[in-house]
This record gives sequence, structure tokens and C-alpha cells, in this order.
Amino acid sequence: MLPVAENEMLCRVGAGTPMGELLRRFWLPALPSEQLADYPSAPVRLRILGEDLVAFRSSKGDVGIVEPLCPHRRAPLFLGRNEEDGLRCIYHGWKFDTNGACIDLPNVQAANDQLKKRMCIKSYPTVERGDIIWIYMGAAENMPEMPDFEWMRVPSEQRSVSVWTQESNWVQGVEGEIDSSHVSFLHSDYLAQTPDIVIHRKISATDPSPKIIVKPTEYGFLSAARRNAGNGEYYWRITQWLMPFHNMIPSAEWPALGGRMWVPIDDYTTYTWDWSYSREKPLDERFWELFHSGRSFPPKRAYGPMKLHDGKVIDTWRPICNADNDYRLDREGQFKDLFSGLYGVNDQDRAVQEGMGPIVDRSKENLVASDAAVVAARRTLMDWVKRVQNGEPVLPALDGSMYDVKALDVISPHAELDDLLASDFGDMSTAWPNGAPAAAE
Ligand code: FES
Ligand SMILES: [Fe+2]
Repeated sequence: MLPVAENEMLCRVGAGTPMGELLRRFWLPALPSEQLADYPSAPVRLRILGEDLVAFRSSKGDVGIVEPLCPHRRAPLFLGRNEEDGLRCIYHGWKFDTNGACIDLPNVQAANDQLKKRMCIKSYPTVERGDIIWIYMGAAENMPEMPDFEWMRVPSEQRSVSVWTQESNWVQGVEGEIDSSHVSFLHSDYLAQTPDIVIHRKISATDPSPKIIVKPTEYGFLSAARRNAGNGEYYWRITQWLMPFHNMIPSAEWPALGGRMWVPIDDYTTYTWDWSYSREKPLDERFWELFHSGRSFPPKRAYGPMKLHDGKVIDTWRPICNADNDYRLDREGQFKDLFSGLYGVNDQDRAVQEGMGPIVDRSKENLVASDAAVVAARRTLMDWVKRVQNGEPVLPALDGSMYDVKALDVISPHAELDDLLASDFGDMSTAWPNGAPAAAE
């Protein structure tokens, strides 16, 4: 359980909040490149860390993410005309480039450069990497490095990225991702029924009470779930959790290597990002079939305007199974072929995480040993909040190479995590290109 005041500190992300300040030290995924395809694509409304924004791509190919209302008389720039080198407000024609500079004031007689300078709008730095447009919303003097994930380095055809909304606070998503013991229940039907799922994962369904071992690292922590595999061997799933909301999911070879990122839209809504990739070859038909089926990630989703809790609108993908239709819960299915009665793995996760309420009251929880990784994520985040408050540098933000690590899914005779990490993993022996991760102090 977490006292109410700490829960508030953990969850709230607006400008000036302690967690909001920490998250503003990192590059954040803002929108998939496909959402702003080649010029002239339509501007996109988005909200990140509680700030409403508009994104557009100029004819030069660069992306601007700017404040949403025109400085003249506050008309929405989303309605603007995307005119080659800038976005023109449709009310009186003021025009802004991707850096937020005002480049035309057609209804002002003798508009000079000085006036234009004063009429600039807020614009955040962006970088395009791994088919994603990233944003940095912090102070210039704290500019971080981009996280150097392997999935961002492979050719596009070897990778998929997708995003959708979750109608809960971001931490509920972060916690669900590293809660290994729920897999044996909530997702047991998926493990049992997906014909190609690697044999290792089926052990998750047969041993529902794994031993959880958490090992701190410089970038976050490792969460190892050890299950008995029979014959004196152990099934190890080692999830990587990386500041501030990344994780890498253990997977043998199929369907692909993958992970997720949980980016707060605001305190009550979250962009869930999924990335998957193959190290060696383009993702094949079987992968895309699963991708589009809604059975795994992403869920079945529809693109369009979505109203947030305060009535404002963003342009995004909302899952089709959602709270408005009880996630299409199948009560009969609960006693036939679906443990949860919910079809999609993410629908299953989202139903329980959204159902906790927009910000779950963690003072009412009763945690058990298998929640060790959940506790570790909270502690790691709160610890970094305090370090920022003490003026310490945020090391994972400043060293992108820390993100060049792998998750592990392996059967091994080793019963101890350190022995396993020191061993040869066979096919997984390239799991630590940087060597085994060092424990944080
Ligand atoms: S409100 Fe935008 S130009 Fe007047
Ligand atoms: Fe899950």
C-alpha cells in the first residue's frame, strides 16, 4: 500500500508537479510517423503530460509540435492550413513555422521583424527515430540523449510500432506490464490457445506462483520470474524495466521481440505504445495477422477524434472494446474458452487497469510477495523524483546507451539469478551486448 500523498506524487504529471518534472527530463514518444505522413498531412491534436499541443509536418519534412491556440485571438491552430513552410491560422491568417516562429502577419500593416518575434508560439524540440516522432518538453539545459534501443535501429520492415489510448493513469499501465503473476490467470487462455506461442510461455500457465527477484540497475531494474520447468530446470522470464516508463518483454523468437511505453496524456489518460521487431528479417505475414487480429497487441482500435475527460479532443486510436461496452465481456466464455471472458490480451489488461478508477487508491491495496516488481517500479520512480528535487543529474536520461539491453526468456538449470546472468544462455547469449547490467548504488 502507498499513502495517499505518495500516490499523488507518483501519478500526477502536470507542469510543476514532482513527477511531471522528472518525466520532462526524458525524450517522450509523441506520435507515430505515419500519423503525420508526408506533406501535406493534416495537423494532429495531441496532449502530453497534461499539455495540449498541435503537431504538423512542413513541406521540408520537419515536424513542429506547438501550442494549440493562436496568439492573436486564440483560434485553434488545429484548424489551420498546412502551407508548405508553416501552419496558417484560418481566422486572420497569421502563420507559424515548425519552431514556433511567426513568419507572416497579413492583417497587420507594416508588420516588422520585432513584432513577429514577439508573436512566436511555444514549440518543443522533436526527433524522428524508429518510425516515431519524439518530443522533449523540459528545459534546454537538461536536454537528454535519445534512448538507444535496438528496435529503433533495425530497418522499418523489421519493426512495428503502434499506439492507442488507455483511460487510466499511466502508472496503472506501467505496473501491469511488470506484474508477472497475472499472466497465469488473466492471459491463461491466450497462452493455451495460441498455436504458435513458444513452448516456454505455456509454463507460465502451469506454474502460477513464480518466485520474483528484482535486481536494481542503473537504468531501472530487472524483474526475474522463476518458475519450475520440471527435470530440475527453471523457466526464467527476465523483464527489463527502464526509466521512466519503458519495458522489454521476454520472448523467445515468435512472434517478435517487443515491449511497451506508457506516456501520460494527462493524469487520467495514457498513450500505450507497443513496439515489436525482428533482429534479422522483415516481420512476416504471421506476425501481421496476429497484429491485426486484436488478440495480442495492439487491440482492435479505431482512429479518429477522441474526447478527453475535460471535453477537449485529441486525434488518436481508441480501442474498440472499451468501458462503454464493458470491453465486450463474454460471461459464458469465462466458463468455456476464455478465462477472463475478454478476447484480446490488451483488452484484458485494459479492462482491469481502467476498472481500478482513473487514479487507483493505492492506500487500500494488500500487496503480496508476487507484487515485488510493482513495488520496485514505484520505488524507482519515487526515488528519481527525490533525486531530481535534490538537484542530481538523471543518469538514464543523459546516457542513451543504457537502453541497449535485452529481455530474457530461457529454460536453465540455474536456480539463482546471478548464476544465470553469469552463464552462457545458448541462443540468448547475445542478451547483454553491454555486459551484465550493474546494480545501482
Ligand atoms: S486568431 Fe489566429 S490569426 Fe487571428
Ligand atoms: Fe498483461
